[in-house]
Amino acid sequence: MMVHGGAGNWKRTDEAAALEGLRRALAAGTALLARGGSALDAVVAAVSLMEDDPAFNAGTGSALNLDGEDEMDAGVMVGDGLKTGNVTCLRRVRNPVQVARKVMEETDHVLLSGEGALKFARLMGFPDYDPVTAARRRDWQEKREALEEKRPGRSRLARLLRVHPELGGGTVGAVALDRRGKLAAATSTGGVTLKLPGRVGDTPVPGAGNYASPAGAVSATGRGEFMMRFLTAKAVCDRIGAGLSAQQAVDRSLSAMAREVGDEAGVIALDAEGRMGIGHGTAAMPHGYFTSADGKTVVRMQVPRHRA
Ligand code: GLY
Repeated sequence: MMVHGGAGNWKRTDEAAALEGLRRALAAGTALLARGGSALDAVVAAVSLMEDDPAFNAGTGSALNLDGEDEMDAGVMVGDGLKTGNVTCLRRVRNPVQVARKVMEETDHVLLSGEGALKFARLMGFPDYDPVTAARRRDWQEKREALEEKRPGRSRLARLLRVHPELGGGTVGAVALDRRGKLAAATSTGGVTLKLPGRVGDTPVPGAGNYASPAGAVSATGRGEFMMRFLTAKAVCDRIGAGLSAQQAVDRSLSAMAREVGDEAGVIALDAEGRMGIGHGTAAMPHGYFTSADGKTVVRMQVPRHRA
């Protein structure tokens, strides 16, 4: 099982909390797998815990849009049968990833948005919950002021995001392989700070920020618009399906993506034999993994050979 806490520029002071959050998420997911639980159960449990952790940009502590509101995205997918459920621009629930799972299990649809997603969540029993933290509100205020000072007007947001990629960090994701050989992926995010209201990122778009096939499971993080143009998660899965190792598939997909659209992204990938692939074009991407073969848990801020 693997988890990530979002590609970007992490502040040194936030690193310990992120690594501890990853460790907790991995422990919860792998405990389920050890008891014979499904890969889907494991990734949803891990992502739910990270959504509850304000160290990350998902669920509680989600980034706020230009109007200062939470609009959260999440997706789940199982490789077996290519089943997926997703939500976008979802407000006022605690665990968007659990609502995404309900979309997959209880509807004929793949993606619900905004008001409709919220109505569905309430119907499924998810109570009203305010995910906005005081720290995130302060952060929003500062960045909103900086945006106005540096470049008045909304059209300059893209430029600000280029100069400050850390505005988008903190998405969370997990991939897992269970005892029955089934793969699953889950990803959740508050999106990009100061995004235009109604903006949809890569996380709830199957194949962009989240994907699972019988061959591989992938969770992506970073500039959502890049992943939506390149279909990054699907690109990695397809390369695994074509016979590359998970690491080769990640390396080649990220290189191709960097050439085509840009490299502010990261991915974790797992193949049907439990081999892992990890990569990021950003300075950091807190991530962790557990392998049952050696019983070892590893959490770290970036891949060791990383030279960004
Ligand atoms: N990758 C998260 C987002 O762009 O919404």
